Amino acid sequence: EGTVQPPRQSWTFAGPFGSFDSTQLQRGFKVYREVCSACHSIQLLAFRNLAEKGGPEFSEAQVKALAAEYKVKDGPNDSGDMFERPGRPADRFPPPFANKQAAQAANGGAYPPDFSVIAKARTYERGFPWFVIDIFTQFQEQGVDYITALLTGYEQPPAGFQVPEGKYYNEYFPGHVISMPQPISDGQVEYPKDADGRPQAPETAVQYAKDVSAFLMWAAEPHLEARKELGFKTLVFLLLFAGLLYFTKKRIWSRVE
Ligand code: HEM
Repeated sequence: EGTVQPPRQSWTFAGPFGSFDSTQLQRGFKVYREVCSACHSIQLLAFRNLAEKGGPEFSEAQVKALAAEYKVKDGPNDSGDMFERPGRPADRFPPPFANKQAAQAANGGAYPPDFSVIAKARTYERGFPWFVIDIFTQFQEQGVDYITALLTGYEQPPAGFQVPEGKYYNEYFPGHVISMPQPISDGQVEYPKDADGRPQAPETAVQYAKDVSAFLMWAAEPHLEARKELGFKTLVFLLLFAGLLYFTKKRIWSRVE
């Protein structure tokens, strides 16, 4: 009791030929930026990563403009002082709090974990028993499935379940008592509009949860597509090579015995 297996989602990046949907990653980034980044840092991500192939694929100009909207710490300058300046594409995302203590103080003692690799981290922490039976299916999506479920898993506690002051009940959080208030609800984030004026995807909590989870998967594993492609090529090569070896062996030993 206390750990509930999250439902499986279907991800564009699942399976041997999966790849990220850049429009989904752009929406997920918007959710991160407008909602989660108030509490969660993503310290390993640089602005310029958002323009890389296989990711959200924002244009260089968009990334430059985006970076300039942030204040970044720099220094020391010639007189030995630290100072703030507008961000540049090569900078990393500045964290919302000065340090861990400040983050905990603002969140009732709990630390909102950094997002840089959380999608993979939660896969490996939660997934171990599944690893054995699931290596050829969707083992790697455990973490994103979990994050999606967590974000939409706020519920009334069952009768008799005492939720401490300043904590919340979540179906999927281990132990069910979480310090993060429900972060997203329907209509909270505006999505880009299609030509006919309709949002590109539903502006619902469920969709926000999926999009931001996909974004976190990309942040944790930006080279997923290249890795899958190389893996496939390697398997094809090994197969052909095994065939070649087999016939070579037959030939070499053909006059023996
Ligand atoms: C924990 C996601 C917004 C505060 C977490 C965890 C995830 C997450 C995946 C880790 C859960 C675990 O340890 O298994 C998100 C996402 C957000 C978001 C995707 C935006 C949609 C926020 C906001 C706040 C916040 C706005 C602050 C008001 C926290 C705290 C924890 C946490 C304090 C630690 C919870 C605990 O250990 O009890 N969040 N979060 N989060 N988050 Fe968020």
